[in-house]
Amino acid sequence: MIKYEIKNICCIGAGYVGGPTMAVFAKHCKNLKIVVSDINESRINGWNKKDTSYLPIYEPGLEEIILNCRDQNLFFTTNVKDSIAKADMIFLSVNTPTKTKGIGAGKASDLRWVEASARQIAEYSKGHTIVVEKSTLPVRTAKTIEKILFNTQSNSDLNSDKTFSVLSNPEFLSEGNAINDLENPERVLIGGEDKLAIESLAELYLNWVPEEKIIRTNIWSSELSKLTANAFLAQRISSINSISALCELTEADIKQVSTAIGFDSRIGNKFLNPGPGFGGSCFQKDILNLVYLCEYYKLNEIAKYWEQVVKINDWQKKRISTLIVNSLFGTVSAKKLSILGFSFKANTNDTRNSASIKICNDLLEEGAILSIYDPKVEKKQIEKDLNILASNKNSENDQNKWFYADSIENSIDDSHAIVILTEWNEFSNLEFDLFFKKMKRPAWIFDTRSIIDIIKAERAGFNVWQIGNYSKLNSKI
Ligand code: NAD
Ligand code: UGA
Repeated sequence: MIKYEIKNICCIGAGYVGGPTMAVFAKHCKNLKIVVSDINESRINGWNKKDTSYLPIYEPGLEEIILNCRDQNLFFTTNVKDSIAKADMIFLSVNTPTKTKGIGAGKASDLRWVEASARQIAEYSKGHTIVVEKSTLPVRTAKTIEKILFNTQSNSDLNSDKTFSVLSNPEFLSEGNAINDLENPERVLIGGEDKLAIESLAELYLNWVPEEKIIRTNIWSSELSKLTANAFLAQRISSINSISALCELTEADIKQVSTAIGFDSRIGNKFLNPGPGFGGSCFQKDILNLVYLCEYYKLNEIAKYWEQVVKINDWQKKRISTLIVNSLFGTVSAKKLSILGFSFKANTNDTRNSASIKICNDLLEEGAILSIYDPKVEKKQIEKDLNILASNKNSENDQNKWFYADSIENSIDDSHAIVILTEWNEFSNLEFDLFFKKMKRPAWIFDTRSIIDIIKAERAGFNVWQIGNYSKLNSKI
Protein backbone atom coordinates (compact mmCIF):
# COMPACT_ATOMS: atom_id res chain seq x y z
CA MET A 1 0.00 0.00 0.00
CA ILE A 2 1.38 3.44 -0.89
CA LYS A 3 1.63 5.63 2.18
CA TYR A 4 2.12 9.31 2.78
CA GLU A 5 5.78 10.23 2.97
CA ILE A 6 6.57 11.31 6.52
CA LYS A 7 9.84 13.15 7.05
CA ASN A 8 8.97 16.00 9.37
CA ILE A 9 6.95 15.66 12.54
CA CYS A 10 5.68 18.36 14.80
CA CYS A 11 4.25 17.81 18.25
CA ILE A 12 2.18 20.62 19.74
CA GLY A 13 2.63 20.44 23.52
CA ALA A 14 5.91 19.66 25.28
CA GLY A 15 4.38 18.28 28.48
CA TYR A 16 4.33 14.94 30.26
CA VAL A 17 3.08 13.24 27.09
CA GLY A 18 4.57 15.30 24.25
CA GLY A 19 8.15 15.37 25.61
CA PRO A 20 8.70 11.68 26.48
CA THR A 21 6.64 10.38 23.52
CA MET A 22 8.56 12.35 20.95
CA ALA A 23 11.86 11.44 22.61
CA VAL A 24 11.08 7.75 22.07
CA PHE A 25 9.95 8.40 18.48
CA ALA A 26 13.22 10.24 17.87
CA LYS A 27 15.23 7.38 19.35
CA HIS A 28 13.65 4.81 17.03
CA CYS A 29 13.02 6.86 13.88
CA LYS A 30 16.38 8.39 13.11
CA ASN A 31 15.29 9.43 9.60
CA LEU A 32 12.60 11.74 10.98
CA LYS A 33 13.06 15.32 12.05
CA ILE A 34 10.88 15.86 15.12
CA VAL A 35 10.10 19.30 16.47
CA VAL A 36 8.27 19.62 19.79
CA SER A 37 6.72 23.05 20.16
CA ASP A 38 5.08 24.76 23.09
CA ILE A 39 3.84 28.21 23.99
CA ASN A 40 5.34 27.82 27.47
CA GLU A 41 8.76 29.39 27.09
CA SER A 42 10.19 28.26 30.41
CA ARG A 43 9.21 24.65 29.62
CA ILE A 44 10.98 24.82 26.26
CA ASN A 45 14.03 26.40 27.90
CA GLY A 46 14.06 23.50 30.35
CA TRP A 47 14.00 20.96 27.51
CA ASN A 48 16.85 22.78 25.80
CA LYS A 49 19.13 23.30 28.84
CA LYS A 50 22.48 21.59 28.43
CA ASP A 51 22.34 20.39 32.00
CA THR A 52 19.62 17.73 31.83
CA SER A 53 18.92 17.97 35.55
CA TYR A 54 16.78 20.96 34.49
CA LEU A 55 14.48 18.93 32.25
CA PRO A 56 10.95 20.10 33.08
CA ILE A 57 9.81 16.51 33.61
CA TYR A 58 11.34 13.84 35.76
CA GLU A 59 11.02 10.38 34.23
CA PRO A 60 13.48 7.53 34.75
CA GLY A 61 15.36 6.90 31.47
CA LEU A 62 14.28 10.15 29.79
CA GLU A 63 17.52 12.06 30.34
CA GLU A 64 19.59 9.51 28.44
CA ILE A 65 17.37 9.63 25.35
CA ILE A 66 17.33 13.42 25.37
CA LEU A 67 21.12 13.50 25.52
CA ASN A 68 21.33 11.17 22.52
CA CYS A 69 18.67 12.71 20.28
CA ARG A 70 18.41 16.39 21.16
CA ASP A 71 19.67 18.64 18.39
CA GLN A 72 20.22 15.53 16.25
CA ASN A 73 16.69 14.66 15.14
CA LEU A 74 14.76 16.04 18.13
CA PHE A 75 14.24 19.76 18.67
CA PHE A 76 12.29 21.88 21.15
CA THR A 77 10.99 25.29 20.18
CA THR A 78 8.44 27.99 20.94
CA ASN A 79 8.07 28.62 17.22
CA VAL A 80 4.81 26.71 16.84
CA LYS A 81 3.98 28.37 13.52
CA ASP A 82 7.18 27.32 11.79
CA SER A 83 7.09 23.76 13.07
CA ILE A 84 3.49 23.35 11.82
CA ALA A 85 4.38 24.72 8.39
CA LYS A 86 7.13 22.16 7.90
CA ALA A 87 5.31 19.11 9.27
CA ASP A 88 3.86 16.16 7.36
CA MET A 89 2.36 14.80 10.56
CA ILE A 90 1.32 16.78 13.64
CA PHE A 91 0.68 15.28 17.06
CA LEU A 92 -1.71 17.22 19.28
CA SER A 93 -0.46 16.75 22.83
CA VAL A 94 -1.97 19.74 24.52
CA ASN A 95 -3.68 19.79 27.90
CA THR A 96 -7.41 18.97 28.14
CA PRO A 97 -8.34 19.74 31.76
CA THR A 98 -11.85 19.77 33.22
CA LYS A 99 -13.79 22.95 32.47
CA THR A 100 -13.99 25.23 35.47
CA LYS A 101 -16.80 27.44 34.22
CA GLY A 102 -19.57 27.62 31.67
CA ILE A 103 -21.52 24.73 30.17
CA GLY A 104 -20.38 21.40 31.61
CA ALA A 105 -18.20 23.07 34.28
CA GLY A 106 -16.72 20.51 36.67
CA LYS A 107 -17.17 17.62 34.23
CA ALA A 108 -16.65 18.39 30.54
CA SER A 109 -13.16 18.71 29.09
CA ASP A 110 -11.95 22.19 28.32
CA LEU A 111 -11.05 21.96 24.65
CA ARG A 112 -9.81 25.51 24.17
CA TRP A 113 -6.17 24.44 23.71
CA VAL A 114 -7.18 21.77 21.21
CA GLU A 115 -9.22 24.29 19.26
CA ALA A 116 -6.42 26.88 19.32
CA SER A 117 -3.97 24.28 18.00
CA ALA A 118 -6.36 23.15 15.27
CA ARG A 119 -6.81 26.76 14.19
CA GLN A 120 -3.04 27.22 14.04
CA ILE A 121 -2.71 24.06 11.94
CA ALA A 122 -5.46 25.28 9.58
CA GLU A 123 -3.59 28.53 9.18
CA TYR A 124 0.05 27.49 8.89
CA SER A 125 0.11 23.96 7.47
CA LYS A 126 1.07 23.26 3.87
CA GLY A 127 0.14 20.42 1.49
CA HIS A 128 -1.29 17.27 3.05
CA THR A 129 -1.00 17.04 6.84
CA ILE A 130 -1.90 14.12 9.07
CA VAL A 131 -3.23 15.46 12.36
CA VAL A 132 -2.95 12.96 15.20
CA GLU A 133 -4.93 13.30 18.43
CA LYS A 134 -2.53 12.30 21.23
CA SER A 135 -4.37 14.25 23.91
CA THR A 136 -7.22 12.41 25.62
CA LEU A 137 -10.42 13.76 24.12
CA PRO A 138 -14.17 13.25 24.38
CA VAL A 139 -15.54 10.84 21.80
CA ARG A 140 -16.37 12.67 18.54
CA THR A 141 -13.79 15.44 19.03
CA ALA A 142 -12.15 14.42 15.75
CA LYS A 143 -15.26 15.74 14.01
CA THR A 144 -14.78 19.13 15.68
CA ILE A 145 -11.12 19.17 14.72
CA GLU A 146 -12.01 18.35 11.13
CA LYS A 147 -14.57 21.16 11.05
CA ILE A 148 -12.00 23.62 12.35
CA LEU A 149 -9.36 22.44 9.89
CA PHE A 150 -11.69 22.71 6.90
CA ASN A 151 -13.75 25.74 7.90
CA THR A 152 -11.26 28.16 9.35
CA GLN A 153 -8.84 28.39 6.46
CA SER A 154 -8.42 31.85 5.01
CA ASN A 155 -9.89 32.61 1.55
CA SER A 156 -6.53 32.27 -0.16
CA ASP A 157 -6.04 28.86 1.42
CA LEU A 158 -9.36 27.54 0.15
CA ASN A 159 -7.93 27.33 -3.35
CA SER A 160 -4.62 25.88 -2.17
CA ASP A 161 -3.66 22.21 -2.03
CA LYS A 162 -4.05 22.12 1.76
CA THR A 163 -5.64 18.82 2.89
CA PHE A 164 -5.87 16.89 6.15
CA SER A 165 -6.40 13.44 7.58
CA VAL A 166 -7.33 13.22 11.25
CA LEU A 167 -6.31 10.21 13.34
CA SER A 168 -6.81 9.26 16.96
CA ASN A 169 -3.76 7.69 18.61
CA PRO A 170 -4.34 7.93 22.36
CA GLU A 171 -1.40 7.62 24.71
CA PHE A 172 -1.49 4.97 27.45
CA LEU A 173 1.80 5.75 29.22
CA SER A 174 1.75 6.09 32.98
CA GLU A 175 3.98 8.63 34.63
CA GLY A 176 7.07 7.39 36.41
CA ASN A 177 7.11 4.47 33.99
CA ALA A 178 6.65 6.49 30.81
CA ILE A 179 9.79 5.47 28.95
CA ASN A 180 9.26 1.79 29.61
CA ASP A 181 5.59 2.09 28.60
CA LEU A 182 6.57 3.87 25.38
CA GLU A 183 9.38 1.47 24.57
CA ASN A 184 7.27 -1.64 25.26
CA PRO A 185 3.63 -0.63 24.87
CA GLU A 186 0.98 -3.24 25.58
CA ARG A 187 -0.79 -1.89 22.52
CA VAL A 188 -0.74 1.04 20.14
CA LEU A 189 -4.21 2.17 19.14
CA ILE A 190 -4.79 4.02 15.87
CA GLY A 191 -8.28 5.10 14.89
CA GLY A 192 -9.21 6.81 11.67
CA GLU A 193 -10.93 6.73 8.33
CA ASP A 194 -8.03 7.39 5.97
CA LYS A 195 -6.33 3.99 5.65
CA LEU A 196 -3.20 5.49 4.10
CA ALA A 197 -2.81 7.83 7.03
CA ILE A 198 -3.34 4.98 9.52
CA GLU A 199 -0.66 2.90 7.80
CA SER A 200 1.72 5.86 7.62
CA LEU A 201 1.53 6.25 11.40
CA ALA A 202 1.65 2.48 11.97
CA GLU A 203 4.83 2.35 9.88
CA LEU A 204 6.56 4.72 12.29
CA TYR A 205 5.62 2.60 15.30
CA LEU A 206 6.78 -0.54 13.49
CA ASN A 207 10.34 0.74 13.96
CA TRP A 208 10.11 -0.65 17.49
CA VAL A 209 6.61 -2.02 18.18
CA PRO A 210 5.63 -5.49 16.89
CA GLU A 211 2.83 -5.51 14.31
CA GLU A 212 0.54 -7.65 16.50
CA LYS A 213 0.45 -4.90 19.11
CA ILE A 214 -0.90 -2.29 16.72
CA ILE A 215 -4.68 -2.08 16.81
CA ARG A 216 -6.57 -0.27 14.04
CA THR A 217 -10.14 0.86 14.78
CA ASN A 218 -12.59 3.47 13.66
CA ILE A 219 -11.85 6.90 15.07
CA TRP A 220 -14.72 6.97 17.58
CA SER A 221 -13.80 3.61 19.09
CA SER A 222 -10.26 4.84 19.52
CA GLU A 223 -11.34 8.03 21.29
CA LEU A 224 -13.78 6.18 23.55
CA SER A 225 -11.32 3.37 24.34
CA LYS A 226 -8.95 5.81 25.98
CA LEU A 227 -11.62 7.23 28.30
CA THR A 228 -12.88 3.73 29.04
CA ALA A 229 -9.40 2.38 29.85
CA ASN A 230 -8.81 5.15 32.37
CA ALA A 231 -12.29 4.73 33.86
CA PHE A 232 -11.71 0.98 34.35
CA LEU A 233 -8.28 1.56 35.92
CA ALA A 234 -9.59 4.22 38.29
CA GLN A 235 -12.56 2.05 39.16
CA ARG A 236 -10.16 -0.68 40.27
CA ILE A 237 -8.46 1.69 42.68
CA SER A 238 -11.73 2.90 44.17
CA SER A 239 -12.80 -0.72 44.51
CA ILE A 240 -9.67 -1.80 46.39
CA ASN A 241 -9.73 1.38 48.50
CA SER A 242 -13.32 0.69 49.51
CA ILE A 243 -12.34 -2.81 50.62
CA SER A 244 -9.30 -1.40 52.49
CA ALA A 245 -11.67 0.43 54.84
CA LEU A 246 -13.60 -2.78 55.48
CA CYS A 247 -10.35 -4.70 56.17
CA GLU A 248 -9.36 -2.20 58.83
CA LEU A 249 -12.48 -3.08 60.81
CA THR A 250 -12.76 -6.80 60.26
CA GLU A 251 -9.29 -8.30 60.82
CA ALA A 252 -8.99 -9.02 57.10
CA ASP A 253 -5.72 -7.82 55.55
CA ILE A 254 -5.93 -5.92 52.26
CA LYS A 255 -2.63 -7.39 50.99
CA GLN A 256 -3.91 -10.91 51.55
CA VAL A 257 -7.26 -10.05 49.98
CA SER A 258 -5.68 -8.49 46.89
CA THR A 259 -3.30 -11.42 46.47
CA ALA A 260 -6.18 -13.85 46.79
CA ILE A 261 -8.40 -12.11 44.25
CA GLY A 262 -5.48 -11.32 41.95
CA PHE A 263 -4.84 -15.02 41.41
CA ASP A 264 -8.03 -15.13 39.40
CA SER A 265 -6.75 -14.39 35.91
CA ARG A 266 -10.02 -12.66 35.08
CA ILE A 267 -9.22 -10.11 37.81
CA GLY A 268 -5.41 -10.10 37.50
CA ASN A 269 -2.90 -9.05 40.13
CA LYS A 270 -1.93 -5.58 38.90
CA PHE A 271 -3.29 -2.22 40.01
CA LEU A 272 -4.69 -3.52 43.28
CA ASN A 273 -2.61 -1.46 45.71
CA PRO A 274 -4.69 0.52 48.20
CA GLY A 275 -3.69 4.11 48.71
CA PRO A 276 -4.78 7.58 49.76
CA GLY A 277 -6.84 7.95 46.58
CA PHE A 278 -5.79 8.18 42.96
CA GLY A 279 -4.27 11.43 41.77
CA GLY A 280 -2.67 12.59 38.56
CA SER A 281 -3.93 14.80 35.84
CA CYS A 282 -6.11 12.24 34.10
CA PHE A 283 -8.19 9.69 36.02
CA GLN A 284 -10.57 12.16 37.60
CA LYS A 285 -10.81 14.40 34.54
CA ASP A 286 -11.38 11.48 32.17
CA ILE A 287 -14.08 9.85 34.33
CA LEU A 288 -15.84 13.19 34.76
CA ASN A 289 -15.65 13.64 31.01
CA LEU A 290 -17.24 10.21 30.58
CA VAL A 291 -19.93 11.18 33.08
CA TYR A 292 -20.60 14.34 31.12
CA LEU A 293 -20.85 12.43 27.84
CA CYS A 294 -23.31 9.95 29.39
CA GLU A 295 -25.42 12.81 30.72
CA TYR A 296 -25.31 14.47 27.31
CA TYR A 297 -26.67 11.27 25.73
CA LYS A 298 -29.28 11.01 28.55
CA LEU A 299 -27.69 7.87 30.01
CA ASN A 300 -28.14 9.17 33.54
CA GLU A 301 -27.82 5.85 35.40
CA ILE A 302 -24.51 5.18 33.67
CA ALA A 303 -23.32 8.68 34.50
CA LYS A 304 -24.10 8.08 38.19
CA TYR A 305 -22.33 4.70 38.11
CA TRP A 306 -19.04 6.21 36.95
CA GLU A 307 -19.34 9.31 39.10
CA GLN A 308 -19.33 7.06 42.16
CA VAL A 309 -15.72 6.09 41.37
CA VAL A 310 -14.69 9.72 41.89
CA LYS A 311 -16.88 10.08 44.99
CA ILE A 312 -15.21 7.07 46.65
CA ASN A 313 -11.84 8.60 45.77
CA ASP A 314 -12.76 11.87 47.50
CA TRP A 315 -14.13 9.93 50.45
CA GLN A 316 -10.86 8.02 50.82
CA LYS A 317 -8.80 11.21 51.09
CA LYS A 318 -11.18 12.70 53.66
CA ARG A 319 -11.28 9.44 55.60
CA ILE A 320 -7.48 9.53 55.92
CA SER A 321 -7.18 13.13 57.08
CA THR A 322 -10.02 12.55 59.56
CA LEU A 323 -8.47 9.43 61.06
CA ILE A 324 -5.13 11.23 61.49
CA VAL A 325 -6.84 13.97 63.48
CA ASN A 326 -8.90 11.49 65.51
CA SER A 327 -5.92 9.38 66.45
CA LEU A 328 -3.94 12.40 67.64
CA PHE A 329 -6.47 12.95 70.45
CA GLY A 330 -8.93 14.74 68.19
CA THR A 331 -6.74 17.71 67.43
CA VAL A 332 -3.64 18.48 65.36
CA SER A 333 -3.70 22.17 66.18
CA ALA A 334 -0.11 23.48 66.47
CA LYS A 335 1.20 19.92 66.21
CA LYS A 336 4.02 19.23 63.83
CA LEU A 337 3.39 16.43 61.33
CA SER A 338 6.00 15.07 58.96
CA ILE A 339 4.58 14.54 55.48
CA LEU A 340 6.54 12.10 53.32
CA GLY A 341 5.66 12.42 49.65
CA PHE A 342 3.84 15.08 47.68
CA SER A 343 3.83 13.77 44.10
CA PHE A 344 0.73 11.80 43.07
CA LYS A 345 2.78 8.60 42.78
CA ALA A 346 6.44 7.57 43.01
CA ASN A 347 9.05 8.31 40.33
CA THR A 348 7.48 11.52 39.07
CA ASN A 349 7.66 15.18 40.06
CA ASP A 350 4.03 15.65 38.97
CA THR A 351 1.69 16.80 41.73
CA ARG A 352 -1.44 17.39 39.68
CA ASN A 353 -4.46 16.26 41.69
CA SER A 354 -2.17 14.50 44.16
CA ALA A 355 -3.99 13.08 47.20
CA SER A 356 -1.28 14.86 49.23
CA ILE A 357 -2.74 18.24 48.31
CA LYS A 358 -6.18 17.48 49.71
CA ILE A 359 -4.87 15.67 52.80
CA CYS A 360 -2.33 18.43 53.57
CA ASN A 361 -5.01 21.09 53.11
CA ASP A 362 -7.34 19.28 55.50
CA LEU A 363 -4.58 19.02 58.12
CA LEU A 364 -3.58 22.66 57.69
CA GLU A 365 -7.19 23.64 58.13
CA GLU A 366 -7.17 21.75 61.44
CA GLY A 367 -4.22 23.94 62.49
CA ALA A 368 -1.37 21.47 61.93
CA ILE A 369 2.21 22.51 61.18
CA LEU A 370 3.45 20.41 58.27
CA SER A 371 7.00 19.56 57.41
CA ILE A 372 6.89 18.27 53.85
CA TYR A 373 9.55 16.21 52.13
CA ASP A 374 9.45 14.80 48.60
CA PRO A 375 12.57 13.67 46.72
CA LYS A 376 11.52 15.29 43.43
CA VAL A 377 8.89 17.96 44.06
CA GLU A 378 10.25 21.49 44.38
CA LYS A 379 9.29 23.93 47.12
CA LYS A 380 7.68 26.38 44.71
CA GLN A 381 5.40 23.67 43.33
CA ILE A 382 4.14 22.80 46.83
CA GLU A 383 3.64 26.52 47.54
CA LYS A 384 1.55 26.75 44.40
CA ASP A 385 -0.50 23.64 45.20
CA LEU A 386 -1.20 24.59 48.83
CA ASN A 387 -1.47 28.27 48.00
CA ILE A 388 0.67 29.07 51.07
CA LEU A 389 4.32 30.14 51.05
CA ALA A 390 6.70 27.88 52.94
CA SER A 391 7.66 29.15 56.40
CA ASN A 392 11.15 29.80 57.63
CA LYS A 393 12.35 27.12 60.03
CA ASN A 394 13.45 29.71 62.61
CA SER A 395 10.18 31.53 62.82
CA GLU A 396 7.64 31.17 65.63
CA ASN A 397 5.79 27.92 66.04
CA ASP A 398 2.15 28.82 65.75
CA GLN A 399 -0.27 26.81 63.66
CA ASN A 400 -1.40 26.41 60.09
CA LYS A 401 1.84 26.61 58.21
CA TRP A 402 4.30 24.36 56.46
CA PHE A 403 8.05 23.94 56.11
CA TYR A 404 9.93 22.51 53.17
CA ALA A 405 12.27 19.73 54.29
CA ASP A 406 15.20 18.58 52.19
CA SER A 407 15.44 15.09 53.69
CA ILE A 408 13.37 12.64 55.69
CA GLU A 409 15.58 13.26 58.73
CA ASN A 410 15.02 16.99 58.57
CA SER A 411 11.30 16.60 58.34
CA ILE A 412 10.71 14.44 61.41
CA ASP A 413 12.38 16.37 64.28
CA ASP A 414 9.83 17.05 67.04
CA SER A 415 6.92 15.85 65.02
CA HIS A 416 3.95 13.95 66.46
CA ALA A 417 3.48 11.80 63.40
CA ILE A 418 4.94 10.67 60.11
CA VAL A 419 2.38 10.53 57.30
CA ILE A 420 3.52 8.54 54.25
CA LEU A 421 1.53 9.74 51.24
CA THR A 422 3.66 8.66 48.23
CA GLU A 423 5.24 5.26 47.79
CA TRP A 424 8.80 6.49 47.10
CA ASN A 425 11.23 3.65 47.67
CA GLU A 426 13.19 5.52 50.32
CA PHE A 427 10.09 5.67 52.56
CA SER A 428 9.77 1.90 52.81
CA ASN A 429 12.93 1.53 54.89
CA LEU A 430 12.74 4.19 57.58
CA GLU A 431 15.18 4.18 60.47
CA PHE A 432 12.49 3.60 63.05
CA ASP A 433 14.70 3.50 66.17
CA LEU A 434 16.49 6.71 65.31
CA PHE A 435 13.36 8.56 64.24
CA PHE A 436 11.37 7.46 67.25
CA LYS A 437 13.93 9.15 69.53
CA LYS A 438 13.55 12.45 67.68
CA MET A 439 9.77 12.58 67.79
CA LYS A 440 7.13 13.58 70.34
CA ARG A 441 5.23 10.81 72.17
CA PRO A 442 3.07 9.00 71.41
CA ALA A 443 4.80 8.92 68.02
CA TRP A 444 2.63 7.84 65.12
CA ILE A 445 3.18 6.57 61.62
CA PHE A 446 0.30 6.72 59.17
CA ASP A 447 1.21 4.57 56.20
CA THR A 448 -1.32 5.29 53.46
CA ARG A 449 0.63 3.21 50.90
CA SER A 450 1.17 0.09 52.94
CA ILE A 451 4.93 0.11 52.37
CA ILE A 452 6.50 -0.10 55.82
CA ASP A 453 7.23 -3.09 58.00
CA ILE A 454 4.60 -2.58 60.67
CA ILE A 455 6.23 -5.02 63.13
CA LYS A 456 9.60 -3.23 63.03
CA ALA A 457 7.90 0.14 63.48
CA GLU A 458 5.84 -1.04 66.44
CA ARG A 459 8.90 -2.66 67.98
CA ALA A 460 10.67 0.71 67.86
CA GLY A 461 7.78 2.19 69.84
CA PHE A 462 5.58 3.69 67.15
CA ASN A 463 1.81 3.59 67.02
CA VAL A 464 1.09 2.54 63.47
CA TRP A 465 -1.93 2.92 61.24
CA GLN A 466 -1.50 1.17 57.93
CA ILE A 467 -4.06 1.22 55.16
CA GLY A 468 -6.17 -1.92 54.92
CA ASN A 469 -4.49 -3.46 57.93
CA TYR A 470 -6.54 -4.29 60.99
CA SER A 471 -4.91 -3.43 64.27
CA LYS A 472 -6.26 -2.76 67.72
CA LEU A 473 -5.25 0.86 67.21
CA ASN A 474 -7.12 1.02 63.90
CA SER A 475 -10.31 -0.21 65.50
CA LYS A 476 -10.15 2.54 68.13
CA ILE A 477 -9.78 5.37 65.62
P1 NAD B 1 0.77 19.07 30.05
O1 NAD B 1 -0.04 20.15 30.64
O2 NAD B 1 1.96 18.55 30.79
O3 NAD B 1 1.30 19.52 28.60
C1 NAD B 1 0.52 20.17 27.67
C2 NAD B 1 1.36 21.26 27.02
O4 NAD B 1 0.64 21.82 25.91
C3 NAD B 1 1.66 22.45 27.95
O5 NAD B 1 3.06 22.58 28.12
C4 NAD B 1 1.03 23.66 27.22
O6 NAD B 1 1.77 24.85 27.37
C5 NAD B 1 1.02 23.19 25.79
N1 NAD B 1 0.08 23.92 24.93
C6 NAD B 1 -1.23 24.19 25.17
N2 NAD B 1 -1.75 24.86 24.12
C7 NAD B 1 -0.77 25.01 23.19
C8 NAD B 1 -0.69 25.60 21.89
N3 NAD B 1 -1.75 26.17 21.33
N4 NAD B 1 0.48 25.58 21.24
C9 NAD B 1 1.57 25.01 21.80
N5 NAD B 1 1.57 24.42 23.02
C10 NAD B 1 0.41 24.41 23.72
O7 NAD B 1 -0.25 17.89 29.73
P2 NAD B 1 0.12 16.33 29.57
O8 NAD B 1 0.16 15.68 30.90
O9 NAD B 1 1.27 16.22 28.65
O10 NAD B 1 -1.22 15.81 28.87
C11 NAD B 1 -1.51 16.16 27.54
C12 NAD B 1 -2.68 15.34 27.06
O11 NAD B 1 -2.33 13.95 27.09
C13 NAD B 1 -3.93 15.45 27.91
O12 NAD B 1 -5.06 15.37 27.08
C14 NAD B 1 -3.88 14.23 28.80
O13 NAD B 1 -5.17 13.81 29.20
C15 NAD B 1 -3.26 13.20 27.90
N6 NAD B 1 -2.50 12.14 28.58
C16 NAD B 1 -1.70 12.43 29.63
C17 NAD B 1 -0.95 11.43 30.24
C18 NAD B 1 -0.05 11.71 31.42
O14 NAD B 1 0.45 10.77 31.99
N7 NAD B 1 0.18 12.95 31.80
C19 NAD B 1 -0.99 10.13 29.72
C20 NAD B 1 -1.81 9.88 28.62
C21 NAD B 1 -2.56 10.89 28.05
C1 UGA C 1 -2.78 6.60 34.21
C2 UGA C 1 -2.91 5.29 33.42
O1 UGA C 1 -2.31 4.25 34.19
C3 UGA C 1 -2.24 5.41 32.05
O2 UGA C 1 -2.46 4.22 31.31
C4 UGA C 1 -2.84 6.59 31.30
O3 UGA C 1 -2.19 6.78 30.06
C5 UGA C 1 -2.67 7.85 32.13
O4 UGA C 1 -3.32 7.67 33.43
C6 UGA C 1 -3.32 9.06 31.53
O5 UGA C 1 -4.19 8.95 30.71
O6 UGA C 1 -2.92 10.12 31.99
P1 UGA C 1 -0.89 7.79 35.62
O7 UGA C 1 -2.01 8.65 36.09
O8 UGA C 1 0.33 8.44 35.11
O9 UGA C 1 -1.40 6.82 34.45
O10 UGA C 1 -0.44 6.80 36.79
P2 UGA C 1 -1.06 5.48 37.43
O11 UGA C 1 0.03 4.54 37.67
O12 UGA C 1 -2.22 5.00 36.69
O13 UGA C 1 -1.54 6.01 38.85
C7 UGA C 1 -2.65 6.88 38.98
C8 UGA C 1 -2.97 7.04 40.46
O14 UGA C 1 -3.49 5.82 40.99
C9 UGA C 1 -1.77 7.38 41.33
O15 UGA C 1 -2.14 8.31 42.30
C10 UGA C 1 -1.39 6.06 41.97
O16 UGA C 1 -0.73 6.20 43.20
C11 UGA C 1 -2.77 5.44 42.14
N1 UGA C 1 -2.71 3.96 42.20
C12 UGA C 1 -2.27 3.25 41.13
C13 UGA C 1 -3.11 3.31 43.36
O17 UGA C 1 -3.52 3.95 44.35
N2 UGA C 1 -3.06 1.95 43.38
C14 UGA C 1 -2.64 1.22 42.33
O18 UGA C 1 -2.63 -0.04 42.44
C15 UGA C 1 -2.23 1.88 41.18
